Amino acid sequence: MFSGELVVAMDGPSGTGKSSVSRRLAQRLEARYLDTGAMYRVATLRALRSGVDLGDPVAIAIAVKDLPLTIGTDPARELIALDGEDVSAEIRGNAVTRAVSAVSAVPEVREQLVALQREMTTAAGRIVVEGRDIGTVVLVDADAKIYLTASAQARAQRRNQQNIAEGRGDDYEAVLADVQRRDTLDSTRAVSPLRPAADAILVDTSELTMEQTIDELYRVVAEHISAG
Ligand code: DC
Repeated sequence: MFSGELVVAMDGPSGTGKSSVSRRLAQRLEARYLDTGAMYRVATLRALRSGVDLGDPVAIAIAVKDLPLTIGTDPARELIALDGEDVSAEIRGNAVTRAVSAVSAVPEVREQLVALQREMTTAAGRIVVEGRDIGTVVLVDADAKIYLTASAQARAQRRNQQNIAEGRGDDYEAVLADVQRRDTLDSTRAVSPLRPAADAILVDTSELTMEQTIDELYRVVAEHISAG
């Protein structure tokens, strides 16, 4: 594929394999990679550590102001630090996962992180940016916008398999209920609700393996770029 500037926006709900395929797609395109979900997770960790009430958006905004966040864009090497401390494992833990919806709904938090996401995209030039509102809000002029979808059942199935593999037990029905609850919350929230951009290309991963998904995305991006 041609080299030079290329901005790919990747959105969609969790459980579609979005993070893994975005990272791998970036490698294949010889591009940088930005995980914006990780940025909201670092903001959430900051809020939790400062002990604020998660029901108080003003307190959250103050706690997260001027967030001392470092995030790398090398798709082969994860680098995520808060005030110089590596927090890449801690931000994936249950405490952060439970609190991240409340923190990412605060407008001041989004404004700060969106500004940083735009700066980093401009600096990188050639990059895959992954999140929930990249094609609709953050990078409306992206060269290619992809919205990954999968049925709630397929996403619950994957999460449940992951839970089993990581020793957290087997409860498909509970996982499915949680996936459906989060879909409703994410798509109906007031600030940046999760939805595909009008010009996004929808890719359904329900029946695809990871390799098939990456092949399909590479094909879609290549076709889109040569047509556009
Ligand atoms: O993709 P993830 O699970 O790491 O995302 C963590 C949370 O951050 C998730 O609840 C959605 C939110 N998020 C967001 O609001 N906007 C983004 N661009 C990325 C993630």
